[in-house]
Amino acid sequence: MSALFEKLMNRDEKVCPWWLAWTFDNPLRKWLHDPRQILGDYIKEGMTVADIGCGMGYFSVAMARMIGPTGRVIAVDLQQMMLDLLRKRAFRAGVADRINTILAAPEDISIAEPADFVLAFWMVHEVKDIPRFFGQVASVLKPGSRMLYAEPRIHVTQRRFDDILGFAKAAGFSVEPGPAVGMSRAAVLVR
Ligand SMILES: C[S@@+](CC[C@H](N)C(=O)[O-])C[C@H]1O[C@@H](n2cnc3c(N)ncnc32)[C@H](O)[C@@H]1O
Repeated sequence: MSALFEKLMNRDEKVCPWWLAWTFDNPLRKWLHDPRQILGDYIKEGMTVADIGCGMGYFSVAMARMIGPTGRVIAVDLQQMMLDLLRKRAFRAGVADRINTILAAPEDISIAEPADFVLAFWMVHEVKDIPRFFGQVASVLKPGSRMLYAEPRIHVTQRRFDDILGFAKAAGFSVEPGPAVGMSRAAVLVR
């Protein structure tokens, strides 16, 4: 029984399974995480932006609205089920043609084109090799561009968050204070 529970919780993998994502990605979320309030200072029309660990696409769809018809969203996740749910959501919102979905390998973000902005929301604590992850993000972000990094307070202590920011600095990012994000620790990383 406990083995089944462990399997269901995907504990070995540390990765949030698609069915658990509904606990935070539901209709109430807009009151906690207003995408325009969180991302509005960083995203402009026509940009190419990446949502790494996009899950079911709560932010990808909002970002697709913000970048407009001339922009591009690259939505990356390890789980095909997340990307399938994201596509359904994007079609319903009428922005599917602005979003490229990429099924990533755990050790490779798999983004080939340069990005003007990267979002890593509530996902870095699930990544196995965090120093390598930040190195890969640095290589796709255009010089001077920004990444918003946010973690759930419930899973990531301030100490762990600061340690992770240390990996980002080692990959060449400078760190600026992030916006206020409900139930989260957040920082802006500048390439
Ligand atoms: C807690 S969910 C957050 C989803 C989304 N960012 C949101 O805020 O709704 C974390 C997501 O990151 C994905 N993930 C974890 N490690 C990853 C990696 N190395 N590369 C890409 N996606 C990853 C998981 O599959 C999961 O969908």
